[in-house]
Amino acid sequence: MMTTSLQLKYDIKDIALAPQGKQRIEWAGREMPVLRLIQERFAQEKPFAGIRLAACCHVTTETAHLAIALKNGGADAVLIASNPLSTQDDVAASLVADYGIPVFAIKGEDNDTYHRHVQTALDHRPNIIIDDGSDVVATLVQERKHQLADLLGTTEETTTGIVRLKAMFRDGVLSFPAMNVNDADTKHFFDNRYGTGQSTLDGIIRATNILLAGKNMVVAGYGWCGKGTALRARGMGANVIVTEIDPVRAIEAVMDGFRVMPMAQAAAVGDIFVTVTGNKHVIRREHFETMKDGAIVCNSGHFDIEIDLKSLKEMSSEVKQVRNFTEQYRLQSGKSVIVLGEGRLVNLAAAEGHPSAVMDMSFANQALACEYLVKNKGSLEPGIHSIPTEVDQEIARLKLVAMGIELDTLTAEQEIYINSWTAGT
Ligand code: ADE
Repeated sequence: MMTTSLQLKYDIKDIALAPQGKQRIEWAGREMPVLRLIQERFAQEKPFAGIRLAACCHVTTETAHLAIALKNGGADAVLIASNPLSTQDDVAASLVADYGIPVFAIKGEDNDTYHRHVQTALDHRPNIIIDDGSDVVATLVQERKHQLADLLGTTEETTTGIVRLKAMFRDGVLSFPAMNVNDADTKHFFDNRYGTGQSTLDGIIRATNILLAGKNMVVAGYGWCGKGTALRARGMGANVIVTEIDPVRAIEAVMDGFRVMPMAQAAAVGDIFVTVTGNKHVIRREHFETMKDGAIVCNSGHFDIEIDLKSLKEMSSEVKQVRNFTEQYRLQSGKSVIVLGEGRLVNLAAAEGHPSAVMDMSFANQALACEYLVKNKGSLEPGIHSIPTEVDQEIARLKLVAMGIELDTLTAEQEIYINSWTAGT
């Protein structure tokens, strides 16, 4: 751990990367008008004065704008990585050097360092935790119960984190309010769908430089992230196959025009595989065995558990890095399987994550969820809380204004009609 001349503690790759990071943070800001408005208001109103905040997010140019907004709002904020491979080291450096925000995140950090940083976030004794995947919250609940009294509440960014919070609630250990940012309409409709859709293909293309047109791309999971990935892959000319365990989602995929089949069948025909299920070992030994020589496998779900890399290693005689974030596993059978980004989120490991324009709305939700926790201190029940509809609608409205798009408005006649039940056939 290092300190700046201002005695700011941090653990990052190289503080000298700050100028490049600053330039890239400023570039991202062009596409984040909603968060900018919130940041300007926070700077005036200081809603977080006296609040200690720990944010566990992918350390990207977009997260930088969230961290700056919170700091300008008066928060005593620290930032750690929510994934060992997603940190943009230049951004981490600039946040420390140019914005005075303590960051603990290094791209490629090992699991021990990652967990040490989670402990550092908790050492800050946060009143608010922003989590992406629920690692900080799960650690707090398991290892630092004595700090629960400090906590106003938490916010959660992603589907996987919400699944974990629901399990905590079922187990009776969620003793504080947790704001469900993921399920806000202005979050998952755009971030999970169009953000994951675009950035996953971006990661695959940056890592491999392959042509998608004409390839069989297997998308495992047809949640919002799967829908976006399948949609964008089709747009690039891939023949998309979807695998699902949920019957409704499977019909949706069929009627969206995709082939649906079990992974056991898809494994033999796929050229590229993307997992976005949130579950474990979606691609495993029996699938590797039937894959084509040279099949490319990657994951865009939150954790690196969707591809059973342990089995793949056991089946392999050699593992060789062939490009950045691209490893070739030579199987004992003679075939090879290519794994991108070590099975971690390919969109953040090999590319830069979701584009700023969607993170603008996701992080507007985060910023306003934190403010909501402060404003409603003491009055929120323990459990998972939705982002209020008015907040969601306001974020959409501001985004439209920024995009220069006008809405229609109801006429007086329509207003009366839509609010009455008397008029029928
Ligand atoms: N999650 C996905 N993309 C992201 C980004 N660009 N910044 C922060 N979190 C993300």
